[in-house]
Amino acid sequence: MALVSMNELLPKAKAGKYAVGQFNMNNLEFAQAITQAGMELNAPFIFGVSEGALKYMGIEYTVALAEASAKKSGLPIALHLDHGSSFDVAMKCIRAGFSSVMFDGSHHSYEDNIRLTKEIVKAAHAMGVSVEGELGTIGGTEDDISVAEENANLAKPEEAIRFYEETGVDALAIAVGTAHGMYAGVPKIHYDIIEQVARAIPISLVLHGGSGVPDQMLIDAIKAGVTKINVNTENQVAGTQAIRDVLNKDAKVYDPRKYLTPARNAMVEVVKSKIILFGTSNKS
Ligand code: 13P
Repeated sequence: MALVSMNELLPKAKAGKYAVGQFNMNNLEFAQAITQAGMELNAPFIFGVSEGALKYMGIEYTVALAEASAKKSGLPIALHLDHGSSFDVAMKCIRAGFSSVMFDGSHHSYEDNIRLTKEIVKAAHAMGVSVEGELGTIGGTEDDISVAEENANLAKPEEAIRFYEETGVDALAIAVGTAHGMYAGVPKIHYDIIEQVARAIPISLVLHGGSGVPDQMLIDAIKAGVTKINVNTENQVAGTQAIRDVLNKDAKVYDPRKYLTPARNAMVEVVKSKIILFGTSNKS
């Protein structure tokens, strides 16, 4: 099966009141682990690729891995640029074969964010590619981008509604209290903002920073109206811990397959647990 746009996945999730997982792909083992989990549970999913991951893997390898996953699994899979920073990066990804892009204009003024997002929506939609926008700023660290908690701004419902109406995005990430990376304490999710926006606009709301959020809070976020949840750090932590365990146990290991196989297996378990939690099993 060819890669699909998020519009093949998210409207069904909104109607069915479940959430599709965006699992970030950082290398071959991530692609394999996420795909295996999806296949075991017959679940659609979204590969998220940040600009940092894109630089690390190279755009050709990235698209080839995602296409191989879609072909091998037969599942509907979207390949989505995560936190794209410019029109040029978004177009480069679309030309290379991405089926979806995010433009994160949250560091611009509200009006500039609308203007820049609109340009990307126009170009992407002409090529059948879906677009996610962002409003408010999500705290924490992803790649080289760090937003201090005190600078993380919650999205305002009336601004989110107007943002959708003016830009025509297919999905909208709204800052509601989660952050990228693991949490020192428990995040405070503003379910009221999710509810208000989800009721007012027909597109999907996206919860970034899914790692380390207690299960019940994710379930409550889906109940409030979130239909896409992004997870990256939890896979990184589980995979790296498995590698550390192997190397700590035996200092003589040198064959990467000896530590990457347990890392991959650990990530399969993380992704499966999220798919089950999000209600995406058997939704392919
Ligand atoms: P985490 O790394 O906190 O899971 O966040 C992932 C994310 O939101 C990617 O955009």
